[in-house]
Amino acid sequence: MSIEDAAAGHAIETLFQEGRRYPPDPGFAAQANARPELYERAERDFEGFWRDEALQRVTWFRPFDRVLEWELPYARWYLGGTLNVCYNCVDRHVEAGRGNRVAYYWEGEPVGERRVITFADLQREVVRFANGLKKLGVKKGTPVGIYMGMVPELPIAMLACTRLGAPHTVVFGGFSADSLVGRLNDMECEVLITQDEGQRRGRPVPLKRTSDEALAQSPSVRHCVVFRRTGADVPMQEGRDVYWHDLLADVSDDPASCPCEAMDSEDLLYLLYSSGTTAKPKAIVHTTGGYLVGVASTHYYIFDVKPDSIYWCAADIGWVTGHSYIVYGPLCNGTTGVIYEGTPDYPDKDRWWDIVERYKVDILYTSPTAIRSCMKWGPEYPRRHDLSSLRLLGTVGEPINPEAWIWYREHIGGNRTPVVDTWWQTETGMIMITPLPGITTLKPGSATKPFPGVEAAVLNDRGEEVGPGGAGYLVLRRPWPAMLRGLFKDDERYRQTYWSRFPGLYFAGDGARVDEDGDFWLMGRVDDVMNVSGHRISTIEVESALVDHPRVAEAAVCGRKDEVTGQAIVAFVTLKGGEEGSPEMLAELREHVGRKIGRFAAPANIVFTPELPKTRSGKIMRRLLRDISDNRELGDTTTLADPTVVEEIARRGKELAAAGEEG
Ligand code: WTA
Repeated sequence: MSIEDAAAGHAIETLFQEGRRYPPDPGFAAQANARPELYERAERDFEGFWRDEALQRVTWFRPFDRVLEWELPYARWYLGGTLNVCYNCVDRHVEAGRGNRVAYYWEGEPVGERRVITFADLQREVVRFANGLKKLGVKKGTPVGIYMGMVPELPIAMLACTRLGAPHTVVFGGFSADSLVGRLNDMECEVLITQDEGQRRGRPVPLKRTSDEALAQSPSVRHCVVFRRTGADVPMQEGRDVYWHDLLADVSDDPASCPCEAMDSEDLLYLLYSSGTTAKPKAIVHTTGGYLVGVASTHYYIFDVKPDSIYWCAADIGWVTGHSYIVYGPLCNGTTGVIYEGTPDYPDKDRWWDIVERYKVDILYTSPTAIRSCMKWGPEYPRRHDLSSLRLLGTVGEPINPEAWIWYREHIGGNRTPVVDTWWQTETGMIMITPLPGITTLKPGSATKPFPGVEAAVLNDRGEEVGPGGAGYLVLRRPWPAMLRGLFKDDERYRQTYWSRFPGLYFAGDGARVDEDGDFWLMGRVDDVMNVSGHRISTIEVESALVDHPRVAEAAVCGRKDEVTGQAIVAFVTLKGGEEGSPEMLAELREHVGRKIGRFAAPANIVFTPELPKTRSGKIMRRLLRDISDNRELGDTTTLADPTVVEEIARRGKELAAAGEEG
């Protein structure tokens, strides 16, 4: 997508129109963790800033000799240092006498199912599970897959891996068996940790059944550990599968029985797969020292966490937001967190506000899609509850429209709380562009300024910086501690994807504008990646899933604007042998994409068309399809092989828009 397309397709005009400003509240500022001099400090002495952060936020087994080695496009941070993530997130808090502090309040989706897990409990559970994994042969370097719902055993499993030095890949519980297979095989996982079933909107999610399908095609996996969440009767394969509680029946919970492995700063911590512009997801590499420093330090300043904070990041741990800001950042800072298993509207649309009130949550971090859903449901739901404990609100994952930002602040934040709109990516590992609460003047719709030490810019097609108000491509100029260390076993794709568009600069794949104050306004992806409810989905991945269906000849996919989910997926499909589309076929194809990728990637609409618009060289004209989906004026179609195709599709597209969306 060109930058002009991105700008036109986005509600950026409305962003600028609003023009509201929220200067920092002096009371908040007086107590804030962040100080204005942080920016200047990081500019004056970039490495010194990150050295101090590393020493303040993290306990090192062996101190590092050097802060940074930057051999473009590869960075290495905290060279020579050794540390352990689990030690930093768990053990050291217990050793410091804070074992009784709550690490997680857990709320199951069924009302009344609750667990309180202190740091001492967490340590015992992690030690036990790590000892269990050892029995299965897991040791430093053993790749482990994790496919679970939002239960405390998920962070426990992740922490147990880090304790042993075993890198993990967490696969979001909404992914299909095929997606799970791809990840397990790519990383060559030896163990898979899953659960019998998840719980979602009152219905079971068959995680073990999906795991079984995947394991039939994942030869490297020797063992599957099954946590019992619902107690459903699931098949267990002799010799391969073992229940979590059986594995742990005779193991010790004494930390001395399972010491934290000393890991090098640059040892692999985890892989997280993310959609790119091809059918194959990218395996993003995060290592140990820099990642932990980056997430702990951003979490500390941006969320202004206090020793008595009750912090709730309402994302799923299966995505990077959960990795960095439910598990590693908050635990490293010794913060008390909330984990909620289910959906915000179960059993009713005030479930979240019930949770905020019960635990007296003071910091809430969620997505614009969630906020827009709440707006749609109406303010009567939050109004049923006392939300006065809230002190700070955050959003992430997609551009937030000013209307949603203001609603969030007024109806959830009581018109008092700062709202931090945080821009970052799986690749960046940590938040990169964000206000600092108590310091930054907030503008609804703007993520404002780069975090101290981060240097961002907006460039035009020729690589020149655009002036105030101009639209362009977002780039980052300097390395940062939590940055990806590459794509797993794919140096070429790493260089190509991030470092070739503007040589020497990190290209994020997002469009942005900068205003006259130097504040950043993010506009969304400028590549073939869609953002649906804050989830990254590749158009090409969905197209591949569609053409995999025996009756599909061709498919083209694009995102169209959606009031709640930001974008919704539209597919244009040509069936084989001139077959006409039907509602049954539509349902079948949605189901098919659900099976190939995951239900969240199923198109909201499918337009059946006898042909797809192509250029004379045979390339599908996606821009045109996007325009049709958004019901915009059609651009230039003169390069089109057969212009009448477009008229026909446009007619069908209009029908579709009129019929409204499905699913
Ligand atoms: C988008 C999620 C606008 C962006 C942490 C980015 C945002 C992609 C924002 C990364 C924001 C994330 N404003 N857009 N505050 N935050 N994005 O890897 O397009 O799942 O490139 O990481 O989400 O998605 P990912």
